[in-house]
Amino acid sequence: MVNPIRLIKASIDTGRDLLRPPTAGDNPDTADAPRAPVLVPIRSLGANHRSRIADHLLSLDDNDRYLRFGYLAHDAQIQKYVDGLDFERDDIFGIYNRKLELLAVAHLAYAKAHGYEKCAEFGVSVVPAARGRGYGARLFERAAMHSSNEGVRMMFIHALSENAPMLKIVRNAGAHVERDGSESEAYLMLPDASLDSRMTEMLEERYAQTDYNLKVQAKQFWSVLGELQEIRRNAIEAQKRSAS
Ligand SMILES: CC(C)(COP(=O)(O)OP(=O)(O)OC[C@H]1O[C@@H](n2cnc3c(N)ncnc32)[C@H](O)[C@@H]1OP(=O)(O)O)[C@@H](O)C(=O)NCCC(=O)NCCS
Repeated sequence: MVNPIRLIKASIDTGRDLLRPPTAGDNPDTADAPRAPVLVPIRSLGANHRSRIADHLLSLDDNDRYLRFGYLAHDAQIQKYVDGLDFERDDIFGIYNRKLELLAVAHLAYAKAHGYEKCAEFGVSVVPAARGRGYGARLFERAAMHSSNEGVRMMFIHALSENAPMLKIVRNAGAHVERDGSESEAYLMLPDASLDSRMTEMLEERYAQTDYNLKVQAKQFWSVLGELQEIRRNAIEAQKRSAS
């Protein structure tokens, strides 16, 4: 089970980090990818996050779109997929940075077909600059734990056989992988839910929501401060002009 002391420490670290003004180094395109913190704030996403999910997926290049969807999804196809996300039936998880950009998104889709009600399919993407930090693996773990807690017995992953990082994640988690030429199917049998898994998920979600709220407040704070500094600069300039 997740250690509550670690959760509190992680929240304090987040708060301390948010007191730094945002810099170019926060841009996932320019940042040297640091290792992920021990506890990654993975939160469940509702329909109000739809446009940010679209931004995340539309930012993926052709190769990543091919790996994520199994075909080269064009912008309109991605938009259609995002518009069709059913937040009531499925679960979507995400990891935000301090600029409130989604670094990673996972979709856990529950099977609809009769006889497969206890199965769920997992799909994930991480922006290139944030890869190798363990976000993909953490999202997989979180989805597996959530599936167990929802009574799902098997998590299913469809990946292209060339997708070495994804296949590594599922193998590390103990999934059975069957390769069929250029495509691979992975199956992970899930344990029953326990008090431990329910408590852990509840605490992790609470931590992620707190982390997100702090990021929202910090973003507002730095934007107001930026506007005040701009007003001050303009006033000084105007003063200088009228004095000369
Ligand atoms: C697949 C993907 C989600 C992985 O995300 P990530 O955050 O970089 O993954 P992680 O850091 O958690 O772990 C990747 C694992 O693969 C390993 N890995 C990375 N590149 C690898 C490579 N070229 N060959 C073999 N293993 C590799 C890492 O070492 C790590 O394993 P480890 O924990 O045993 O060290 C990301 O690459 C991605 O978004 N790809 C495009 C979309 C996609 O393929 N989605 C999956 C379809 S379901």
